[in-house]
Amino acid sequence: MNILMIGSGGREHALTWKLTQSDLCDEMFVIPGNAGTATIAKNVDININDFDAIADFIAENNINMVVVGPEDPLVNGIRDFLESRSDLDGLRIIGPGKEGAQLEGSKDFSKAFMLRNGIPTAAAKTFDAESFDEGLEYLRSQDLPIVLKADGLAAGKGVIIAQTFEEAEEALRAMLLEGKFSKAGSRVLIEQHLSGIELSVFVLTDGKSYKILPEAKDYKRIGEQDTGPNTGGMGAVSPVPFAKGDFLEKVEEKVVKPTLAGLIKDDIPFQGFLFIGLMNVDGEPYVIEYNVRMGDPETQVVIPRIKSDLVALFDATSSQSLGTAELVLDDRFACTVVGVAGGYPGSYTKGKVIEGLELDQNATVFQAGTKLDGQNTVTNGGRVIAVTGMDNDLEAALEKAYKGISGIHWEEMNYRKDIGQDILALM
Ligand code: AMP
Ligand code: GLY
Repeated sequence: MNILMIGSGGREHALTWKLTQSDLCDEMFVIPGNAGTATIAKNVDININDFDAIADFIAENNINMVVVGPEDPLVNGIRDFLESRSDLDGLRIIGPGKEGAQLEGSKDFSKAFMLRNGIPTAAAKTFDAESFDEGLEYLRSQDLPIVLKADGLAAGKGVIIAQTFEEAEEALRAMLLEGKFSKAGSRVLIEQHLSGIELSVFVLTDGKSYKILPEAKDYKRIGEQDTGPNTGGMGAVSPVPFAKGDFLEKVEEKVVKPTLAGLIKDDIPFQGFLFIGLMNVDGEPYVIEYNVRMGDPETQVVIPRIKSDLVALFDATSSQSLGTAELVLDDRFACTVVGVAGGYPGSYTKGKVIEGLELDQNATVFQAGTKLDGQNTVTNGGRVIAVTGMDNDLEAALEKAYKGISGIHWEEMNYRKDIGQDILALM
């Protein structure tokens, strides 16, 4: 099978790494990819939202399967577009259509979906510019802290947790009246704040049945002890020990099953990943958000824990036979540490030469913001690499990841030193 991966991050390198290990994979292409994917597949320089050019490439290169990494093309309807092309009949596509992608593309849509289907989530109300005054009144009636969420995609920046009423009013005004986040912020959810421990559960579904993949915890803040601004993700750990048995059963019964039943009831086809962001509130799961793709850097710990052939699992997803497919997991711990450019998530420079990428055999390096520059691999983004270690216990897995990343250098490189320490403290 010829396979095309769409995206350029560590998530896409990890998925490509796994797909190319399969005997079912013949040629592997990545649009646009990075210096890491270039070592195991062919990178193709096409914009991920140029659907015409992508469709032409698929037709010309006899691609049998397309795996969409990031949310943007999904929300923009890449699946619907490719399905509408008569010359691409039979193409297997991993990633939902435009309607299913609304679970991530619109927080108002996903909140209504959860409430309609009895899925536990925080109470919320949506306001726009016209109902700004009612929004303020609603804010005053709520407890603090309070959460404000831009309805649309805002590159992970659209959630504000306000500690005071003034802060909340300011955020509401900025989004609804002053165009912060432009169209994504033209509607805002005011949502009840939940306290608890967060974790993410990943599901692969063919629209009829599903497989629950390993869960993960990510580390979103730039600074140690979860301080400083939010990032795309600075590290991840899987499994999450406090999510064992009983809690995960509740997630399956109260969240996963009603979510998939809701998609069927609403006649929304869905073939791809569902990434469920959860809060464990006193042992009960509440959905914080849905994403319609894998997480980054969660993929870099989830995918290495899948022993089964991923091409076969994707093929079963596409033929709606996932119910009888085999999913074998690796029980070991996986953890990943993300190396970022100095200054990230604020402004940073690109083009720094990266050294030591090939040295350590006990850890796996997934590249993200990298590109080839002559003989060198250079930085090309904020998040540059993710180094994954695996072992029977978390401490040993962390040691492998940290030993691996400590051998890699570029000017002004930064990474968190405390990934997994909170989980170790709970064990
Ligand atoms: P999201 O972009 O929806 O993933 O939200 C970003 C982060 O905001 C989440 O990972 C949570 O840490 C936090 N968050 C979102 N919604 C809530 C909520 N209702 N209560 C508490 N924290 C929240
Ligand atoms: N790491 C969070 C995300 O991929 O959305």
